[in-house]
Amino acid sequence: MKKLYEKVYEMDHPLIQHKITLLRDRHTGTNEFRKIVEELGMLMGFEALHDLPVENVEVETPIEKCLSPVISGRKLAVVPILRAGLGLVPGILSLTPSAKVGHIGMYRDEETHEPHEYFCKLPEPISERIIVVTDPMLATGSSAVDAVDLIKQRGGKKIKFICIIAAPEGVKRFNEAHPDVELYIGHLDRELNGDAYICPGLGDAGDRIFGTQ
Ligand code: URA
Repeated sequence: MKKLYEKVYEMDHPLIQHKITLLRDRHTGTNEFRKIVEELGMLMGFEALHDLPVENVEVETPIEKCLSPVISGRKLAVVPILRAGLGLVPGILSLTPSAKVGHIGMYRDEETHEPHEYFCKLPEPISERIIVVTDPMLATGSSAVDAVDLIKQRGGKKIKFICIIAAPEGVKRFNEAHPDVELYIGHLDRELNGDAYICPGLGDAGDRIFGTQ
């Protein structure tokens, strides 16, 4: 992982970069796209959870007893921002099957590009969980900032944010608003265009995951 700023990391692992290239390709169809996003959820979740707390427990091997680490302490909540964030959830849950899942519904106004919240349901007590927020695209950063605001208002404290592709504008905005939140990016792209799409990006992640247009 490459540290870009304090708490901001780009995942330069070749497998992650390879899969992002497949996602970018306009010829990659819905079925394959969805599968690759799920795989990225697993690979990126693995990296983002590198500092999960562990404690030693006693285990008896066929040879002898020993102390060996297991994940301990705070429970996990995975919180996708609807709807594209859903695509990353199964991959993360394959690593942490007992994690609870919250949902935050945001849509962006086609003209102003500003996000509006229409749904928020989080596992309680959220304050005691490590929270992994997912959204494949960090574009303007507005919905990411608002989603994390909402989680903090409900008591969330230890928050990580995973996105596959980010624009520099979104990273700046997010990091200024939430400098305490760890941001994990698959690839930092060049810029946003006038329609707030990331360039070169991969198009509309939600449409490509769900096959809508
Ligand atoms: N959301 C997307 O799905 N794609 C972008 O490029 C920007 C926001």
